[in-house]
Amino acid sequence: MLRRTLLAAARSGAVRKTIETAPVTRGVVRRFIAGETPEEALAVTRTLIGEGLLVTLDHLGEDTLDAQQAEATVQGYERILKDLPAGAEVSVKLTALGQAFDETLALENARRVCKAAAAARTTVTLDMEDHTTVASTLRILRELRKDHPDAGAVIQAYLRRSEEYCAELAYEGSRVRLCKGAYAAPADVAFTSAADIDRSYVRCMKVLMAGQGYPMLATHDPRLIEIADALRLIHERGFESYEYQMLYGIRPLEQRRLVEAGCQVRVYVPYGRQWYGYMVRRLAERPANVVFFLRSFTTRS
Ligand code: FDA
Repeated sequence: MLRRTLLAAARSGAVRKTIETAPVTRGVVRRFIAGETPEEALAVTRTLIGEGLLVTLDHLGEDTLDAQQAEATVQGYERILKDLPAGAEVSVKLTALGQAFDETLALENARRVCKAAAAARTTVTLDMEDHTTVASTLRILRELRKDHPDAGAVIQAYLRRSEEYCAELAYEGSRVRLCKGAYAAPADVAFTSAADIDRSYVRCMKVLMAGQGYPMLATHDPRLIEIADALRLIHERGFESYEYQMLYGIRPLEQRRLVEAGCQVRVYVPYGRQWYGYMVRRLAERPANVVFFLRSFTTRS
């Protein structure tokens, strides 16, 4: 119930405007967001890379209905890609590039980000958002991969069709991030119980680890990480043939433990002023965070 309420609040423009005026430095926000500026994000990126981690940077923003705002997002990516150190790539939300009002514009904008990434010798992964955007995102991915075969996809295990999507995408060279799914979705399109979502994650992981592509296993769940390691042995995969991904600020010790065990671990690092939607999804995943979040707005920090 709380999760559903929080996810609805994540899409509320009015709540967003009020909360986002607070600076990122506030308590729990700072735990999950690397900063407001590209410089702050790059400093965090360099530190993580120095510790043996990989990074995917997310220029925060989503659900734009404004071509100028979408243009500003593209330029933000073009700017940060020029300074990205080796070991870092970028993640992009298509709704920040105009997907909600013009799919062709979103594709053109995504092409520009991929072109800038190629010039910087790195890659782009298309985040997956609300279930209503899945078909459009997969269409855009197919188009982008004609020129940029290394463009990464995301499949959300909570979708009932996730296993089918994984099977379609498990081909050579195909980079696929598998996550549980962070948005509210109705029962006819998505599993809603934690146990069903976990079972679906395992089925998808089996398909990806048995396939020819490059799985990017995005989870903090210790049981799923253990199963992934067993699948690595079964399919005789080298550590270089897949990676784990985790969010900035979540289970940092586990991130380092996996690196020490020889695994590749990429940290998803969000930055920017439009942190509200991202932050609320992190609260919805773990309601205990809500208390820390509210406290940081009722006390001086
Ligand atoms: P689960 O939620 O069961 O958490 C397992 C454990 O991890 C918890 O017990 C706790 O210890 C820790 N944990 C998890 N979330 C936490 C939090 N918010 N605060 C504190 N501790 C927490 N989703 C999506 O819909 N589209 C996308 O494109 C992406 N992209 C993406 C990239 C990367 C790199 C990651 C790691 C995740 C995403 N996600 C996503 C989010 C994903 O769908 C999911 O909501 C979160 O990863 C939480 O799910 P877990 O698999 O970690 O399991």
